[in-house]
Amino acid sequence: MPVLRNISQLATCPVQTPQDDAGLISNAALVWAGESIQWVGPYQDMPDQYHSEKVIDCEQKLVIPGLVDCHTHLCFGGWRGDEFELRLQGASYQEIAAAGGGIASTVAATRGASLGELQRKAQHALDGMLSLGVTTVECKSGYGLDEANELKQLEVYRRLDEANAIDLVPTLLGAHIIPPEHKANRDRYVEMLCEVLIPQVARHKLVRFCDAFVEEGAFTVAEARKILSTAKDHGLGIKIHADQLSDGGGAALAAELGAISAEHLEYISDAGIEALAIAGTVAVSLPLASLFLGEPFLRARKLLDSGVAVAVASDFNPGSAPSYHLPLAMTLACLKQGMSPQESLNAATTVAARAISAHERIGSLMPGYQADLAIIDSPTLNHWLYHFQANGCKAVMKRGEWV
Ligand code: NIG
Ligand code: FE
Repeated sequence: MPVLRNISQLATCPVQTPQDDAGLISNAALVWAGESIQWVGPYQDMPDQYHSEKVIDCEQKLVIPGLVDCHTHLCFGGWRGDEFELRLQGASYQEIAAAGGGIASTVAATRGASLGELQRKAQHALDGMLSLGVTTVECKSGYGLDEANELKQLEVYRRLDEANAIDLVPTLLGAHIIPPEHKANRDRYVEMLCEVLIPQVARHKLVRFCDAFVEEGAFTVAEARKILSTAKDHGLGIKIHADQLSDGGGAALAAELGAISAEHLEYISDAGIEALAIAGTVAVSLPLASLFLGEPFLRARKLLDSGVAVAVASDFNPGSAPSYHLPLAMTLACLKQGMSPQESLNAATTVAARAISAHERIGSLMPGYQADLAIIDSPTLNHWLYHFQANGCKAVMKRGEWV
């Protein structure tokens, strides 16, 4: 049983502690066996039996659970650098979308790309994420928007999951926008989702979750209710892109449907916050998207103080968050969302794991948990999030193996 010792600070991120307590232990040691954690605690308390084991010296660095990026749009064709300039000249995200750019342009590029091209491109991003200490990634479809192309994206995720140490957790986002060819008859598209795509992906276990974008220009509350209720009937967990650009009642719908998570929430109302607290739905904050679109940051303090667990994720996608730098999002969560470093770390580990129903297996460094961890070149959590260097991650372990 190998031992990690001389850990300056170990963040255990226990599932049951309040979000402002990341279970920090100074001068710690960690013992693992095979794929799982065996023992953690102060080095001075390490049981004698582990002292004769193989020892790895962490040289006074920080050790954290492998990060969980619980909201990404990992697979897409093309980029949208041209829109970046348009927005700098004053065009809004929604004006660009209404003019045929935005998500629709990425749908065209994704439909035009081969499976191999999409896989190579997403692999590149995945390598970058792993190097930052991310060991699990939720990944949405939503740039295919017809049967064949949604399945193509999901096949990319299946292949990448098989080929990589990092775990992929796929979500169907067929309800991202109404695709151009269905604009004149929205109901037909909703019907295709409910009668063809959702039953098919559920039957073949291609996804664990179903998501919908509830917004002006995307799906109405009534449409999303129909789509997500169908997904629920087929045994899928529910996620919602809610209240991102306006207060559209998405959070209330998430609570009504017992969604596992409501994501974005830049414009969530006080009533929406109350509803999420009662339902126990996780709020997923996406500070890189707020930064990039110049939208308000999530009122995380208000949510946390109301009893809502808040996760932080990258939202990596070509339109609203072209970066997968989750540690940067964590620093922004502190600076712009009023979260403490311990709240922010829990947000990207155990709470993020909860947002994908995996918090009993990953996101914590407690005995019995999967040995997914990252060694960070900082003495403390505070120092890591304060310094926000290009990449503080020095080593990553997935399922007990260095990767
Ligand atoms: O989460 N809001 C909807 N979907 C993405 C943006 C997708 C895009 O612009 O391509 C998001 O921000
Ligand atoms: Fe998103």
